Amino acid sequence: MPGLDIPSQLVEVLRAAGRVAALTGSGISAESGVPTFRDAQTGLWARYDPQELATPEAFARNPRLVWEWYEWRCDLVGSAEPNPGHRALVELEHRAPHFTLITQNVDGLHQTAGSRAVIELHGNIRRTRCSQEGIIVEEYGDGSPPRCPRCGAFLRPDVVWFGEMLPAGTLELASEAARGCDLFLSIGTSSLVYPAAGLPYEALESGATVVEINPSETPLTPRVHFALRGRAGEVLPELLARSSG
Ligand code: OAD
Repeated sequence: MPGLDIPSQLVEVLRAAGRVAALTGSGISAESGVPTFRDAQTGLWARYDPQELATPEAFARNPRLVWEWYEWRCDLVGSAEPNPGHRALVELEHRAPHFTLITQNVDGLHQTAGSRAVIELHGNIRRTRCSQEGIIVEEYGDGSPPRCPRCGAFLRPDVVWFGEMLPAGTLELASEAARGCDLFLSIGTSSLVYPAAGLPYEALESGATVVEINPSETPLTPRVHFALRGRAGEVLPELLARSSG
């Protein structure tokens, strides 16, 4: 593909890698029409204030506003389709002897594409849970937000808000994969939000080859072995095509 420079050393590393881990961020879903967070103009946080929409305090202050914003985003991801970047990671899961997919995305598009084992660090916008008891609720009535059929508390999206802990056990699993892999791919993330942003550094410390796939530079860029400048939906399929056979 013209303009895509995939170093041959990287192709060799991918062919030889026994254990591969990939961390994805909202950039991998950009080509599916799902907005990122921090891209100027188009990013959600350029248009909306996260303090008003994505914190437990915001939900306590204005549950209706927060619920309706997440409903809007849920409709948006509900009509989105996986793109070639998501599909390339499905192929990588089949091809690599051992593969772990870690995502910060809440859109569920990796699973729709066919990825089987996905560690969701920030939850999933398509699930709803009780804001008091934490249990996942699949059937509920009207209301904005609706009420928990068991205890009557407000329901909320099963996502991580600013200031909240990651879902139990997910960071430990992700960290284990980062520390145990030969090749770590950081795809479509600004590498700004911790603890997820710490994972490639754990991989580096353990001696893995670290690759970044992103059209823009990030704070991680100076540390990676290979920075592939381009869109995930173009770079990933090309990387796989070059390393097959
Ligand atoms: P950001 O919006 O911070 O970063 C998106 C990254 O994707 C940027 O570095 C873009 O350059 C890159 N990008 C854009 N289009 C791309 C494409 N087609 N292919 C590859 N990369 C592309 O989003 P995240 O890093 O995912 O947290 O943000 C991390 C977390 O911050 C999110 O999970 C969310 C947010 O607040 C929570 O909601 C808890």
